[in-house]
Amino acid sequence: MKTIKVHDKQFSIFIGSEEIDKSVSQIAEKINNDLKGKNPLFLVVLNGAFIFASDLLKKVNIPCEISFVKLSSYIGTKTTSVVRELIGLDEVLTGRTVVIIEDIIDTGITMGVTTEKLKKLEASEVYIATLLFKPDAFRMNYDIDYIGMKIPNDFIVGYGLDYDGHGRNFPDIYKIIEN
Ligand code: IMP
Ligand code: MG
Repeated sequence: MKTIKVHDKQFSIFIGSEEIDKSVSQIAEKINNDLKGKNPLFLVVLNGAFIFASDLLKKVNIPCEISFVKLSSYIGTKTTSVVRELIGLDEVLTGRTVVIIEDIIDTGITMGVTTEKLKKLEASEVYIATLLFKPDAFRMNYDIDYIGMKIPNDFIVGYGLDYDGHGRNFPDIYKIIEN
């Protein structure tokens, strides 16, 4: 089995790029059906979601706008539960259909805080699209509109996801090997 090392930790192959691509296509198809005529504003959550967003949005074929925000709640392999401010949001959201594009929802705190902030900015609807979801780690009780894959509560890297800044550039997703 293919293994890689990022900083001090070993990871083994978990989800290959073909499987990721299928999942991305399924989300795009649903979005194309559901949000036609709504001119959605896609808000890509940097840094982690940049690869997913790029692949997803190439498959979205309805009129839309795309923008980027930055926030972060993770240090190393542990969530800090503290979500820093939304950086870089300069669009007027009043009355808009907003779709947040996120790489992974873990405890759910980041997206919970983010959707609340966006609703305060008077977006008429806020949808969440995430490639990955860890149901066993989820501590919130809101709905996630678009989920690519549900995964166990293990730390992963690749396809945009990092371990202390490294590993984002792998086209496949790797799972930590705990020893
Ligand atoms: P949450 O607030 O606990 O849902 O954390 C969400 C954020 O934590 C995501 O946007 C990721 O940046 C990061 N994160 C969660 N799980 C992982 C993981 O397994 N690997 C890398 N980053 C992760
Ligand atoms: Mg992220």
